[in-house]
Amino acid sequence: MARQRERWGTRVGAILAVTGSAVGLGNFLRFPGQAAQYGGGAFMIPYIIAFLIVGLPLAWAEWALGRYGGALGHNSVPGIFRSLTKRRAGAYIGLLGTLMPVMIYMYYVFVEAWCLAYAWDFLVGNFAVFGSNATLLGKHFETSVGAGANGDVFSGGAARMLVFVVICFVVNFIMIYRGVSKGIEKFCNIAMPLLVVCAIIVLVRVLTLGAPVPDKPDQNVVNGLGAMWNPTRVDKTLVETLSNPEIWLAATGQIFFSLSVGFGLILTYASYVKRDDDVALSSLTAAAGNGFCEVVLGGMIAIPAAFMFLGQGVVDNPPGTFGMGFVALPNVFNQMPAGQFFGFLFFFLLFLAAVTSSLSMLQPSIALLEEGLGIGRKASVTMLSFITLTGAAFVVYFSKGFTALDTIDFWMANFFIFILATFQVILFSWIVGIDKGMAELRRGAEIRMPNFLKIVLKYIAPLYLIAVFGLWCYYKMPDRLSAIFSPPKGEPPVILMSLGLIFVVAAFFALIVNLANKRWDKQEASE
Ligand code: ALA
Repeated sequence: MARQRERWGTRVGAILAVTGSAVGLGNFLRFPGQAAQYGGGAFMIPYIIAFLIVGLPLAWAEWALGRYGGALGHNSVPGIFRSLTKRRAGAYIGLLGTLMPVMIYMYYVFVEAWCLAYAWDFLVGNFAVFGSNATLLGKHFETSVGAGANGDVFSGGAARMLVFVVICFVVNFIMIYRGVSKGIEKFCNIAMPLLVVCAIIVLVRVLTLGAPVPDKPDQNVVNGLGAMWNPTRVDKTLVETLSNPEIWLAATGQIFFSLSVGFGLILTYASYVKRDDDVALSSLTAAAGNGFCEVVLGGMIAIPAAFMFLGQGVVDNPPGTFGMGFVALPNVFNQMPAGQFFGFLFFFLLFLAAVTSSLSMLQPSIALLEEGLGIGRKASVTMLSFITLTGAAFVVYFSKGFTALDTIDFWMANFFIFILATFQVILFSWIVGIDKGMAELRRGAEIRMPNFLKIVLKYIAPLYLIAVFGLWCYYKMPDRLSAIFSPPKGEPPVILMSLGLIFVVAAFFALIVNLANKRWDKQEASE
């Protein structure tokens, strides 16, 4: 290909970038909420099983396919799928690997802005006035993110948030403009160690609190850790908890979201790895790093802290994903000695984690626009910033009850993630072929890839995915589908409009894939 190819500068840089993509809001906000809601230690059982059966094997498959696609001259998911399936239609399936990250970016950047705003507020002491008043903290959250009324972030009480959204956009696009090695890799090289240091400091603070509420000696650190790790609850045995199918769906979804597998992100990042460089150990390192940040740092900060200050009630019924992070935890920091500093540190590390993830959501589109249309960085970044700005403006405007955010999250990060993940595992094991796929994975590998991985990738993972997806549709779909056509009285049909937005962006990328296919046809004809 005539196009100048980008590469990671160093192997550590590549691993940190993939780990950065994985470590994000999912680790520090989504995981503690899910683990608490589904029984603490009990949740860890399906979580670890999902990690071993689908999470890690799929991460390996994605790295191997991505590096192979890179060797065939592609960085975009449509290009990689077209080459590997040897069909033009493959490129259209690969469209999902661009659409999903970009749609997720549109709301992810909004939550990223909340983290930055909260870090700022803690830094300058704005939270002191709320003390331990959960109602005031809840109201503050609602007003600052515009959860009460549509349009509040543009003209109402939440307008200040717009500044933080713009800052996040600028940071993301500067890094993307600088490129894979000079932008993403450099940023992750600094941000990843920094966020881990910040998280360790906050964790040490939480684990050395003893029993911080004087008249509640039971709300101590040991029982706080128990709230995170004990597999049984007073009212439920382990078997009862595990026999609820929803815990399996939640754990599998969490593994995907957290590892960034099934999005197409790793495919694009791995395509910048040299053909003979290891992917097996790199992938394991990134997955292990993500697990550490999620369970040890994310889970063991939020759950014990919430337990110690707010009690078992908050752990048993966490106030939603956002409630835990943006209401319960600020309450905890407000009650903690030197809480202003630790609150700042916590939200700043969330912001860093969010940026390293959102960068990885933009790169697949940049790769497609450049590779598919043959345009340069300036043009691709301009086009993508226009698309994402429009989409994010929609999510930010329709902030009431987070309906737009939630709809896009449901369809992209829950529904299509299963579809793309299942396709990828079939691509690896059945289309490329398990023997060839494993040979790719073993190429340059610095660890031994056991043979039973073939059985996992060929049979167990696809069957597990199909079963979980079937169950998931059975449980979640009916309510979702009926909500589309029945918006609350007097409200705009935000769900329908959000689906319309997804459709328009998908149509745009379909057009790009069509043009790219023509370009690739010509290139192939001339080779
Ligand atoms: N993997 C990213 C996260 O956990 C998307 O936030």
